Amino acid sequence: MKSNTMDNLAPLFTPETTPASGASRQKATGAYYTPDLVVRSLVAWAVRRETDRMLDPACGDGRFLMVHPNSVGVEQDPESCSVVHERSPGSLIHQGDFFSWAAVTRERFECAAGNPPFIRYQRFTGEVREAAQRLCEKYGAVFSSLSSSWAPFLVATASLLKSGGCMAFVVPAEIGHAPYAAPVLEYVTKRFDRVQVIPVRDKLFPELSEDCWLLYAEGFGGCTSEIWFTPLERFSYSARPPRGSLAVSVEEWKQWNGRLRPFLLSAEARELYAIAADSRRTRRLGDVARVGIGYVTGANEFFHLRPSAAKRLGVPRRLLHPAVRNGKSLANGCVDRARVNSWIADDEPVMLLRLSPEAEVPTEVRRYLDSPAGRDARETYKCRNRDPWYAVPDVTVPDGFLSYMSGDGPKLVSNTAKCVGTNSVHVVHLTREMSMGRLTKLWAEPLTALSCEIEGHPLGGGMLKVEPREAARVMLSDTAIRTDKDRETIEGAIATLKRWRHYV
Ligand SMILES: C[S@@+](CC[C@H](N)C(=O)[O-])C[C@H]1O[C@@H](n2cnc3c(N)ncnc32)[C@H](O)[C@@H]1O
Repeated sequence: MKSNTMDNLAPLFTPETTPASGASRQKATGAYYTPDLVVRSLVAWAVRRETDRMLDPACGDGRFLMVHPNSVGVEQDPESCSVVHERSPGSLIHQGDFFSWAAVTRERFECAAGNPPFIRYQRFTGEVREAAQRLCEKYGAVFSSLSSSWAPFLVATASLLKSGGCMAFVVPAEIGHAPYAAPVLEYVTKRFDRVQVIPVRDKLFPELSEDCWLLYAEGFGGCTSEIWFTPLERFSYSARPPRGSLAVSVEEWKQWNGRLRPFLLSAEARELYAIAADSRRTRRLGDVARVGIGYVTGANEFFHLRPSAAKRLGVPRRLLHPAVRNGKSLANGCVDRARVNSWIADDEPVMLLRLSPEAEVPTEVRRYLDSPAGRDARETYKCRNRDPWYAVPDVTVPDGFLSYMSGDGPKLVSNTAKCVGTNSVHVVHLTREMSMGRLTKLWAEPLTALSCEIEGHPLGGGMLKVEPREAARVMLSDTAIRTDKDRETIEGAIATLKRWRHYV
């Protein structure tokens, strides 16, 4: 049996021995190295016999391989590869792209462990992504172009396991809510006897804003209809995956929109939420309003003038429209005439220069467009890609605004001043059946606050983000919570999810 116990937990690496890499290179390659306790635990979970051959598909400086040298590591970075050669001479290292290697290797493994790179879709592009997608599609997992790299890494790694094999990996907490993570969970439940997801509240990587969870799967070649879910306050070494799990059926997980985060809540809170969702009296925001992003100028400083500057330049009043520039403008409630007057009195840069593509541009405005600031503005990406560059598209006067990134939860306010709104806020247009007054009243209900936590997603740094499609799912009801006990349950649930996203 392996000798990986608490007794030999001397640090594998000190910071000085970790291969040097700049912050941007780290981000581009996802090279964030895993703490010792996590490395040793994941290897202990995955390896059952000394003779087991282990795969680490993105081995970095080889810290997983060192714990179990009977292993194969793949790493694209040559510098890291030479460190691995020195540190774990017994392991076999393949330098290059994992997906290209995985597509051709004939070797199969008893187990796999590691920490795949979390490279967001904007950077996970080109041939590597194509190779990843091709390979995963072969195994029945289809990833959208919005997928982060870790998702196909896990699927491609699992496909290299022998029958009965197991794997243990660090994963981003996004596995608990991101739509692109659903194909990974679908895949592992269809291919393993047992699947366990372990959320860890204390940060595994204190230097990253991103939270990390752990994924363990055993019995490759089998299948399961449930996901074992084991939330931990903090991680400490364990030779076996932690016990005390909640069995979440795959069906139930799908009913929660393919999200595991709601299972951080008590069964009581989930039940109350599910009853409210089923009630005929409950509405979703999308039933009564259209939620979208605000307009994009491409050069906010240029297009939003201070009243004093507009006067000095001689811009006609009819071409200026008061605008909500960001979520902070919504902090004090309704955007009304008095609020706009106070922005104007404070000479805030809130007057949008609103020019239509067809109308003639007055001489004073033409002078501003041709000023040095205007020449800079027209070179920005958005301005270069529209004709004419100075006509900001999609400017509408919504019924309300929604702040979509906040610590305390999104604010919905009405827009009686008929302002327009930038893409730093969501714009809300009522579609039918409800007034803005009624909607803002419902928005103040604790059920809605919980719904924002459940339907939105944590963004790191204590922030909650609600995309338009998530906002459309937010529940509205002032009848679902009937008793003080229910209210207490809902408030407790809000506090739980805030704690998990580190909002103090
Ligand atoms: C999060 S680090 C993990 C390193 C190591 N497993 C650990 O946890 O300490 C991810 C590693 O993946 C490597 N990597 C990124 N894309 C890769 C690819 N397509 N093929 C192989 N390695 C890759 C990066 O160079 C980086 O060293």
